[in-house]
Amino acid sequence: MDSASSPILAGDTAPSQPSVSESGAEPKYAYSSSSGHFAGLMHGDSATMLKTLPSDVFNVAVTSPPYFWVRDYGYEKQLGHEESVEAYIDALMDVFDEVKRTLHPEGVFFLNIGDTYYSGNGQPHGSDPKCSSRNFLRKKVRPVDVSGWDIPKKSMIGIPWKVAFEMQQRGWTLRSTIIWNRCNAFVEPTARDRPYRQYEFVFMFSKSRFYSFDRSKLVEEDVWNIPIERNRRAKHNAAFPSELVRRCVEVASPPNGHVLDPFAGSGTSILTSMANHRNVVGIDMSNDYVEYVQGAIEGEGYMASCWENLVNRLRKPSPLWDEWTGNRRNFRKPGTAKKV
Ligand SMILES: C[S@@+](CC[C@H](N)C(=O)[O-])C[C@H]1O[C@@H](n2cnc3c(N)ncnc32)[C@H](O)[C@@H]1O
Repeated sequence: MDSASSPILAGDTAPSQPSVSESGAEPKYAYSSSSGHFAGLMHGDSATMLKTLPSDVFNVAVTSPPYFWVRDYGYEKQLGHEESVEAYIDALMDVFDEVKRTLHPEGVFFLNIGDTYYSGNGQPHGSDPKCSSRNFLRKKVRPVDVSGWDIPKKSMIGIPWKVAFEMQQRGWTLRSTIIWNRCNAFVEPTARDRPYRQYEFVFMFSKSRFYSFDRSKLVEEDVWNIPIERNRRAKHNAAFPSELVRRCVEVASPPNGHVLDPFAGSGTSILTSMANHRNVVGIDMSNDYVEYVQGAIEGEGYMASCWENLVNRLRKPSPLWDEWTGNRRNFRKPGTAKKV
C-alpha cells in the first residue's frame, strides 16, 4: 500500500503514514465511511493493544483465536505455540480479560475455538500439500508430539472446555455452546479410525447475567449450519465464514453498535460488521493480514480518519440503543404488550 492512501496512526494528524511493514511502532489505523461508520485496525499483540481501548464500549466481541499448535502464522510471539495447555490458556486469558473490560456491561462474546489431539508420537512425517501453514507440524516436534502426558496418546485434549471453565472462573457467564456445523468440512486423510471433525464450538459468553440480545434475529437455535467459505481471502486458511459473524453481530448489537475482534486475521469480522452498519475494531499481529485488511477496508470506500474520532464514537452507544429490540429494557414477558 502506498503511503498517500495509508490511514493515519494513533495520535497523528498527518494524512500519510508508512505502511505496516515500514513502521516500527505498533500502529492503529482508523477509517470512516461516508455514512459515518468507523473501522479500526490495530497491528500488534492483542493483549497489549486491547489495553489502549476504553472500558465498557463494545456491544459484541466475536473471534477465533489461533488453536493450540495447529498452525504457524510465521512470526514470533504468535499465540498458540506455548509449551503447555496451561500456558496457552493463560495467554488466551490475558486477551479475554481485556475483552471483558472493553465489553459493554450488557455485552456478549462469541468465541469459536477448536481442539487439538495429543499425539505423543514424536515428530510426525509426511506433508499436507493443501495447507502450507500446517506443514510446520511435520518439521518440528510440538509439545503435543512429546510422550509423557497424563492422557493416552491419540486423545483429544478437550481444550474448548478447559477454556470455557477458566472463563467461568474469571466471571464470564457461559450462556450457550453453539455447534457450528461446517456442512462442507474437509475430509481428514489421516483419520482412518474416527469420524472426521465436522463441527466446532462457538461459545457464547455474557459479561453479566443480565444482558442485551435480540432473539428475533436468530436464524437457528444452538446448531448453526454454515458452510466453510472456500474462497480464501488473503490466503487465510483459518478464516471463519461471514454468515457466522453476521449472526453474532445481529443478535448482540444494535445497528450502528460496536464490534470487536481481537484476532482479526483476514478481516471477516471487520468487513462483515462494516457491511452490516456497525463500527468495528480488529487486532492482528501479522503484517500480511493487516496489510491485506487495510486494502479491503479501503476497497469498501472507507477513508483514513483519526483514531481519536473512532474512540469517541465507541464511547457513545448507538443512537438506536434505547429502541433496539435486543435492549434488555425492552424485553417483555411472553404475551405482554409494550405500554404506550
Ligand atoms: C484463526 S486466525 C483468525 C481468522 C479470522 N477469524 C478470519 O476470519 O480471518 C487467528 C489470528 O490470530 C493472529 N494472532 C496470533 N497471535 C496473535 C497475537 N499475540 N496478537 C494478535 N493476533 C495474533 C494470527 O495472525 C491469525 O491471523
